[in-house]
Amino acid sequence: MTHAVCPGSFDPPTLGHLDIIGRVSRLFDRVTVAVLVNPDKNGLFSVDERLDLLRTTTGQWPGVTVDSFSGLLVDYCTERGITAIVKGLRAVSDFDYELQMAQMNSGLARVDTLFVPTGPQFSFLSSSLVKQVATLGGDVSALLAPIVFQALRSKLTDQ
Ligand code: PNS
Repeated sequence: MTHAVCPGSFDPPTLGHLDIIGRVSRLFDRVTVAVLVNPDKNGLFSVDERLDLLRTTTGQWPGVTVDSFSGLLVDYCTERGITAIVKGLRAVSDFDYELQMAQMNSGLARVDTLFVPTGPQFSFLSSSLVKQVATLGGDVSALLAPIVFQALRSKLTDQ
C-alpha cells in the first residue's frame, strides 16, 4: 500500500493544488491532504473551513483523504506509515526552498519528497495572490473550484 501526503496551508485551496492532488492520486494507493495548523498565523479561512473545502473538492478521487496536522510534518508521516511527501513545483523559484525542506525532512526521518511540476496554466497561481486579487476586486473565478470561489466571495463580503 503506497501512501503519500500533500501538505500545505491551503488558505484557500486553488485549482493548482487540486491539479497536483488529482495527479498524485493516480500514482499512490492513498493520498492524505494535510492542512498545517499554524498557531502563529491567522489564515483567512479557519482550518475547519479549509478541511471542508478540500473534502468537497477532492471527493471525486477515492484514495484521497483530508486531515490537519501540527508540529513536524515528518512526525505526522512516521506515525502514519507515510513514506512520501509530494509537493508541487510551479517554477524554478520554488525549488531552492523546497529542496531545503526536502533535505531537512529526509535527514530527520526516512521520508522522501517527490516534486510534481504544476500544470503550466497554474504556474503563477498561489493562495496568497488569489486572496490579494480578490480582496482588491479582481476576478479569480477561473483559478478556484466554484465552491471555493463562493466561499471566498462570502468571506470577503462578511469582512
Ligand atoms: O502551503 P505552504 O504554506 O507552502 O506549506 C508549507 C508546509 C506546511 C508544507 C511546511 O511549512 C511544513 O511542512 N510545515 C510543518 C512544520 C515542519 O515540519 N517544518 C520543517 C520543514 S523542513
